[in-house]
Amino acid sequence: MKKLAALFLFTAASLAAQAPAPPSAPARPRGNMLISRAVPDPSAVERGQKIFSANCGFCHGTNAQGGDTGPDLVRSPLALDDERGDKIGPVILEGRANKGMPAFHLPAEQIQDIAAFLRSRQQAAIDRNAYTILNVVTGDRQKGREYFNGAGRCNTCHSPTGDLAGIAKKYDAVTLQSRFLYPRPVEVRPQVTVTLASGQTFAGTLDYLDDFNVALRDGAGEYHSLSRDPRLKIDVHDPLSAHAELLKKYSDADMHNLLAYLVTLK
Ligand code: HEC
Ligand code: HEC
Repeated sequence: MKKLAALFLFTAASLAAQAPAPPSAPARPRGNMLISRAVPDPSAVERGQKIFSANCGFCHGTNAQGGDTGPDLVRSPLALDDERGDKIGPVILEGRANKGMPAFHLPAEQIQDIAAFLRSRQQAAIDRNAYTILNVVTGDRQKGREYFNGAGRCNTCHSPTGDLAGIAKKYDAVTLQSRFLYPRPVEVRPQVTVTLASGQTFAGTLDYLDDFNVALRDGAGEYHSLSRDPRLKIDVHDPLSAHAELLKKYSDADMHNLLAYLVTLK
C-alpha cells in the first residue's frame, strides 16, 4: 500500500515536471525524460518480458514492480537512467551477492531486451498514471461491465459477487486501479512442471530458471534443482500472466471504463 502510494507520488512529481517551465522544477525531471525518449521496439519488449519473467520475476515481480525479495525496478533510479542496458547490465552480470541479487550470465542482446521491457513498463506506468490521476473515475460503468464479461475475459477468473465482491470498499479508486493493472505477485508464484527424458516429472513452485538450471519446490516442500538439457521439458505457468497480457491490450478507455465499473462493487 505504502509502495503504491509512493508510485503515485512519483507520478505526480513527473506530472509537475511536464508543465511548461515549472517554477521549482526537480533537478532531474525523470518522467519527462522518459516520455520524450523513444518507445522501445515492441518485439524487443516482448522478448525482454519473457526473459524477465523467467529469470527475474520471482524476486522483482513479473511486472518488475517489486516482490518480497527484490526491489521495484519500474521506479528504480538506476533502471530509469538506463540506456539499452548500460546501467542494469553490470548489475545483472555481476549481481550483488551480499544483498541477495545473484549474477546472471546473459548475452548482451538479452540484457538489451530486458532493458527494453523495463523501459516500456516505466513509460506505461508514467503515461497511464499521469493521465488517470487527474481524473480517476471518468469512465462508463456499463461499458466497463461489458469489457469485464467480454473482451477482457475478467469473468473467467473473477466474479463481482465472489472474489471481487466489496473490492471497492477494500481499496480507494486509485489503489483499485493499480491493483487491477498490476496485481502484486508476491503471494502468487509461477508454477512449473519439469519432465525428464525418462518421463519422470517434478512439479511445484518455480524458484529459479536460467539457461542452465531450473529449481523448484514441490508440494511436499522438497527442493529440486536440475541442470537443463535439451531433452528436459519445462512448462511454466504464471497465474498472473493474464494480467501481464491485459496490460498490453487495454486502451485508456478500457481502463477508465473498468475502473468506473469496479468502483461500484461495494
Ligand atoms: C533472488 C532474487 C533476485 C533475482 C532472481 C534477481 N534479482 Fe535483481 N535484485 C535483487 C535484490 C535483493 C536487489 C537489491 C540489491 C541491493 O540492495 O543493492 C536487486 C537489484 C537489482 C537491480 C538494481 C536496482 C537498483 O535500483 O539499484 C537491478 C537493475 C536488478 N536487480 C535487475 C535484475 C534482473 C534484470 C534480474 C533477472 C535477470 C534480476 N535482477 C534477478 C534480487 C534479485
Ligand atoms: C487468467 C485469470 C485472470 C484473468 C483473466 C484476470 N485476472 Fe485479475 N487476477 C488474477 C489473479 C491470479 C490475481 C491475483 C490473486 C488475487 O489477488 O486474486 C488477480 C488479481 C486481480 C485484482 C486484485 C484483487 C485484490 O484483491 O487485490 C483485481 C482488481 C483484478 N485481478 C481484476 C481483474 C480484471 C478487471 C480483469 C479483466 C480486465 C482481470 N482481473 C483478469 C487472475 C486473473
